[in-house]
Amino acid sequence: MYEFDTVYDRRNTNSLKWDFAEERHHSEDELPLWVADMDFRAPDPILKALHEAVDHGFFGYTAEKTADRRIVTDWLKRRHGHAYDPEDVVFAPGVVFALTQAMHAYTDPGDSVMITEPVYYPFRALVRDTGRTLVRNVLSHDDAGYYQIDFDAFEKQITDNDVKAYILCSPHNPVGRVWTRDELIKIGEICLSHGVLVLADEIHADFIYDGHVHIPFASISPEFEQGSVTFTSPSKTFNTAGLQIAEVLAHDVNKRDKIRKAINKTGYAEIPVAGLAAIRAAYTGCDSWVDEMVSYIWDNIRYMKQYIDDRIPALRMRLPEGTYLPWVDCRGLGLDNKALEELIRNRAKLWLDAGYIFGESGGGWQRFNAACPRATVEEAMRRLDRAVNDL
Ligand SMILES: Cc1ncc(COP(=O)(O)O)c(C=O)c1O
Repeated sequence: MYEFDTVYDRRNTNSLKWDFAEERHHSEDELPLWVADMDFRAPDPILKALHEAVDHGFFGYTAEKTADRRIVTDWLKRRHGHAYDPEDVVFAPGVVFALTQAMHAYTDPGDSVMITEPVYYPFRALVRDTGRTLVRNVLSHDDAGYYQIDFDAFEKQITDNDVKAYILCSPHNPVGRVWTRDELIKIGEICLSHGVLVLADEIHADFIYDGHVHIPFASISPEFEQGSVTFTSPSKTFNTAGLQIAEVLAHDVNKRDKIRKAINKTGYAEIPVAGLAAIRAAYTGCDSWVDEMVSYIWDNIRYMKQYIDDRIPALRMRLPEGTYLPWVDCRGLGLDNKALEELIRNRAKLWLDAGYIFGESGGGWQRFNAACPRATVEEAMRRLDRAVNDL
């Protein structure tokens, strides 16, 4: 029904992905597959809603109603099976912004906050930038690139460091794990037994493949729901990061009040009018678009995996269970981080996210972005093939 093959020229549109090579010290001829921004146009209902808002011509203050919070909870119930209460929803301009406010809301300066690396690098920055103490738990993995939490180390780090909050990335960017119910139960039981608040970033929840199921952390039990705060957004699913709207879900009234106060304290009082129009359209009229888009990306991911297996055997890629960000093991090339980056940027002419930026344990890996037309993935694979096989 929908078409994802068209390659749009996104240059000269103020796109962070396509227009900031010089500012970010990359060269213009690197094909960008880095930041988690999709090269698909937003679905028609969102475009229509935004056109209507523009045509009307008024961009004054706005605010959300209970009906808007219900649109969010209906979407989450329909797509992921958990019924939050509309009252649980607090809007924010972004997940990173909201997680930053969560530091202020739920922890004190100097408190320990744990993350599990390799992980989305702004987590590290927001913990440090708010003056909290970063505790880095590290995932273990086998030769095939299957990552798991070492629960003994996880618990020991919590008790040794008196951790107050844990940022859970579910599904996990960049290693592509969709945590199982058993894993989430273990995470939750350990955190709850030590009084650790779970901040569950579920922004990638709509990108799930091959029979895996995203289980909202809060859905596991009433205790987990009370002992956690969830962060989500339409920004990955509908590529609306530039519209600056995201959601915090806090079932416990105290936690909800605290995050609302922390957000208000920043002076950010009203949500953007374009973001509200987009959210209403996204969460009510785009289910079939999302289904097809995710299945298109899954085909891209399988194409990439097959290409690497067949033509670039020095690299290894495990099919991700979730996210649109394949994580490729380049350690077989025997290059240090600098030499690997040189190969990717200057020879392959690709702009990727180097693994080490997600934490030291990501060294030797590269993160790709498969949310683009097939032709772009094919071009990226050809470039990678030539550069690696010329070595
Ligand atoms: C795990 C994770 N959280 C948050 C974000 C960014 O969210 P936002 O743009 O709403 O701050 C990303 C973007 O890639 C992400 O991967």
